Amino acid sequence: MTLPSAADEMSALLAQVGRASRAYYDLDAPEISDEEYDLLFRKLQALERAHPELADPSSPTLRVGGTIASALPKARHAVPMLSLDNAFSADELAAWFEKITKVDARVATAPITVEVKIDGAALSLTYEDGALVRGVTRGDGSEGEEITGTGRAIDDIPLRLAGAGWPRRMEVRGEVYIAKAPFARVNHAREAAGLELLQNPRNAAAGALRQLDPSEARRRRLQFFAYQVVPLEGGWPVALHHDALTQLAAWGFPVAPGWEVCDSLAAVQRVIATWGERIRTLPFDADGLVIKVDAFRLQDELGVIGGRVPRWAIARKFPAESAFTRLVAIEVNIGRTGALAPTAILEPVRVGGATVSRATLHNEEIIAQRDVRIGDMVEVIRSGEVIPKVLGPDRSKRTGAEVPWVAPTHCPVCHTPLVKSEGEVNRYCPNAHCPGRAYEGLVHFASRGGMDITGLGPERLEQMLEAGLIRDAADLYALTPEMLRPVEGFAEQSAQALVMAIAESRGRPLRALLVALGLRHVGAAAAKTLARAFGTLPALRAADAEALEALEGIGPTIAGSVAGFLRDPDNRLLLDRLEGAGVALQESAVAGRGPRPLAGLRFVLTGSLPTLTRPDATARIEAAGGTVTSSVSKKTDVVVAGADAGGKRTKAEQLGVAIIDEAELLRRLAPGT
Ligand code: IVH
Repeated sequence: MTLPSAADEMSALLAQVGRASRAYYDLDAPEISDEEYDLLFRKLQALERAHPELADPSSPTLRVGGTIASALPKARHAVPMLSLDNAFSADELAAWFEKITKVDARVATAPITVEVKIDGAALSLTYEDGALVRGVTRGDGSEGEEITGTGRAIDDIPLRLAGAGWPRRMEVRGEVYIAKAPFARVNHAREAAGLELLQNPRNAAAGALRQLDPSEARRRRLQFFAYQVVPLEGGWPVALHHDALTQLAAWGFPVAPGWEVCDSLAAVQRVIATWGERIRTLPFDADGLVIKVDAFRLQDELGVIGGRVPRWAIARKFPAESAFTRLVAIEVNIGRTGALAPTAILEPVRVGGATVSRATLHNEEIIAQRDVRIGDMVEVIRSGEVIPKVLGPDRSKRTGAEVPWVAPTHCPVCHTPLVKSEGEVNRYCPNAHCPGRAYEGLVHFASRGGMDITGLGPERLEQMLEAGLIRDAADLYALTPEMLRPVEGFAEQSAQALVMAIAESRGRPLRALLVALGLRHVGAAAAKTLARAFGTLPALRAADAEALEALEGIGPTIAGSVAGFLRDPDNRLLLDRLEGAGVALQESAVAGRGPRPLAGLRFVLTGSLPTLTRPDATARIEAAGGTVTSSVSKKTDVVVAGADAGGKRTKAEQLGVAIIDEAELLRRLAPGT
């Protein structure tokens, strides 16, 4: 790239990134997706690396990112952030109640609230005249770390309060957390990238909160529940905790669902009993309930024990989510890379609110290390959405009748002899056509870390394989809504949406395709390196192992795997078919690949569309070769009108421009329908 054009591109990118982060952080109204933002950000970084002399000293790329911030400024809490004592049983709770009733007899008849205890990281937010001015972590309770930028990056946290009636200065306290589903997604992505998995949502939330780079808060999908108001200046007439919760919600804070006010200890115990199972079904991790004396006056009189925990509240914790049961058998499946995937078949047992009869045993090596035998009593854990796991056997329960497991010598699906690579403990099926691998391979192909095809999950793929509609990834691109319609559960809309989602994935960069293809040892990091170095699949195909190994981060194992994959005639055929199907085999965005049914057409969007957002609709039209402009003129070819379309629609009518609705747009985007 010549210098003037690099400079031009850099300033254009700077403007785009700047605009996107203002929209996100200042206006609280993101205009582009995280992925688009990351892409722009990385482009800018790459350009700055190539032309450091042109780099803007205030570029957003210079913000420190990804490091744990010991450099965060410390901040003292005006009012200490307390922790809570625990009660692990109904009796312990009754003992607490009795004790505080002795301190103040009015407790006996006072209202008590029960609410979920969110398992995340505590955060204090200071608001002045209704505007967020500061965010501080709990720290040791008296002093935390200032993380205002990250607080602002959390969508749930209002930058300005709604409604009215707040104290001039106040703190809103609550819990930052990551919900179960995004946590699982983050970990999937990390797995694909070969990164260490995050241990649990709480650590992940606390870690993300303390990153210097606020964008990590978005990446990890941090959320917030408010549970306390601490007035610092100016009056506030609310006298009951549960009224504060209602007030917080009215100001725009999310408040954890399901709180209740009880009029006696017996009522509290009854409510707790209803939560035993229900608590596991919440979309976020909750590690118990918090029981609080409702009236602030009474709270104040009960006071604090040792400056550490309030007398007026206690956490009612539920026992850990693990259970012992008998290991009946070990079933072996084949993963997408051909690796053996042993699954424990268990005597059904209740763990964490669900009945578990299967759990993962990871791999051969772990079974050996933990000495898991068939017939053992094993401990099973289940946390959140995570697949249940066998932790290990209770050796004290052995009778001598337990049988050590012997790994199979042949693939249980295609019966090909299994092989062990050098230096590896686990066996795998070397048959690239093994049907067991095909299914797992397709699941991986469509997954977020791969081609990211919305709506194409394991169940759909299984149905499509069973219906004989597909055998491999290339077949996906030949699907039409007509072909899908007979498959159970596919309505007109969803068949169309899926075909479109598949079509859209044609444009994914080479790095995504490389991950999607599921080469052994090639995670997101290696895929990125290869895609950047070679740019196109043909160039990568032309490279030998030596050329691959010359790249940083690509060792002999990865190079060997890539070279082996590309040499394989079946893989070559698959790649040719993917190319024939219009899949972009390039790293950078490519115009003109794949079907461009809207090529040359000028669109104007108006009104609100039933399912697509403006940026979505624009992106799809552009991907299909069309352009989107903001005003209707004689040059406009099509106006896409949604609800409450106003002047633009009228103008289109006057000029005789075609007016279509979203459904028609979707049809035109997915031709052949
Ligand atoms: S009340 C003095 N309410 O639990 C009152 N805390 O183990 C202390 N927590 O540091 C806070 N959900 O981070 C309260 N509904 C809830 C809560 C909650 C989670 C956390 C909070 C606190 C920790 C104490």
